[in-house]
Amino acid sequence: MEKIGTRKLQVMLVPLPLQGHLTPMLQLASVLHSRGFSVIVAHTEFNSPNPGNHPDFAFIPLQNGVCSPSGNLLEMIATINTNCKEPLEKCIVELQGQVSCIIYDSLLHFVDTVAHHLKVPTIFFRPSTAVYMQSYHALLSLHEKMIIPLPESHLEEAVPELHPVIRFKDLPLSVSSKIRQVVIDFVKSFSDIKSSVAVIWNSVEMLDDFSLQHQYQVPFFPIGPLHKMASSSSSMQTSLLQEDAGCIAWLDKQALKSVLYVSLGSLATMNSEALVETAMGIANSGQPFLWAIRPSSVAGSEWIECLPQGLREVIQERGLIVKWAPQKEVLAHPAVGGFLSHCGWNSTLESVCEGVAMICRPFFGDQMINARFLIHVWEVGVEIGNVADRKSIEEAVRVLMVDDRGKETRRRAAEMKHKLQLSRVKDGSSCKALDELAQFITSLSPPK
Ligand code: UDX
Repeated sequence: MEKIGTRKLQVMLVPLPLQGHLTPMLQLASVLHSRGFSVIVAHTEFNSPNPGNHPDFAFIPLQNGVCSPSGNLLEMIATINTNCKEPLEKCIVELQGQVSCIIYDSLLHFVDTVAHHLKVPTIFFRPSTAVYMQSYHALLSLHEKMIIPLPESHLEEAVPELHPVIRFKDLPLSVSSKIRQVVIDFVKSFSDIKSSVAVIWNSVEMLDDFSLQHQYQVPFFPIGPLHKMASSSSSMQTSLLQEDAGCIAWLDKQALKSVLYVSLGSLATMNSEALVETAMGIANSGQPFLWAIRPSSVAGSEWIECLPQGLREVIQERGLIVKWAPQKEVLAHPAVGGFLSHCGWNSTLESVCEGVAMICRPFFGDQMINARFLIHVWEVGVEIGNVADRKSIEEAVRVLMVDDRGKETRRRAAEMKHKLQLSRVKDGSSCKALDELAQFITSLSPPK
């Protein structure tokens, strides 16, 4: 672990302790370290990163009383925002002006309150797209105009002011019923950048729409995809769960582009019926598959006990199920030809950067919007029908991986990989934005 104060310019990063947020924040830490900044990660004790995996950064735990993940994410985030204020303030005061700026996850507004009070500049970090953020502004506007609840008959229509592929039913909150005030207050809390002097996005110019900058009136730095921008030593371990490395040896034995990788990320859950339908659909497609199923992600099961014995035997012949996979390595493996995904933003970036076409099965949050872009804008994904039954899953796997119908989708995915590579080379959009960000942070420090 690096000692505090060993390099000239120090930045403090405050991540949200959820896998999909923690990972890109640690990748950002690595990017900034490679640009000569010293990095302090101030983190909750719950889901804390392992300092042993990141010898380049200094770590400071914020004692916060959140001992375990509450089933209710809103409550968990509110608790962190309340309980971490004091420990963060103490920590900044102890560092005695050594921190140039604090970069915080957009859901942790307490950081801005504390830093503003202590006159330390803050930068707002969003691990997802600006288009997704726009959708929250659209929701707030619909709420203010009292258009919510919207009759079900309008759900298929495009949302005014957003990209035309986004329908009311793709918004991150259901608009067909009243939205509770506590939820509206939560949305307001992270749609406002408060005193932050800039916004960093784990996004890429060619994939996104940054017109929100007119509203926020601070510089935007789209420096994604962070997993590729981070130095190669960031084979950097950021998983909170133990990765099953054995699946790579299994992939080594499979034919080129033959394997379907299946994962629904770190938060989505399904019931046992949906698990069986998915298993049947994948098995009936005849394709080999690697499936990461998190423990406790199937309601009422510790893991996959609810899969009938006969089905498990079929799976063993054709596929491999693990609890948690080294996903980036899996997607980069030549044997992987498709990804059935919940379309979380990290998974989306990791897949398109490797040219792997996707079957989109969104659950919540930004996943519906990401899926719309994958299918209808970039055209590198296929949809599973509304009812994700065995037939529609089998059909989607065949279309994506075998049929002529999926040929164009696979070709565009390969092309997109190439286009995204260009954003990361010298003079590419993300590379330029990163240069500008480094200069910007440097300019925040008063000359010594
Ligand atoms: C959440 C939201 O669901 C997502 O929509 C939002 O964009 C970020 O926060 P999550 O559900 O965790 O994220 O999905 P995703 O963003 O895809 O992140 C999952 C991460 O876990 C990825 O970096 C992926 O590589 C990793 N992962 C997943 C593994 O390393 N192994 C696995 O087996 C599964």
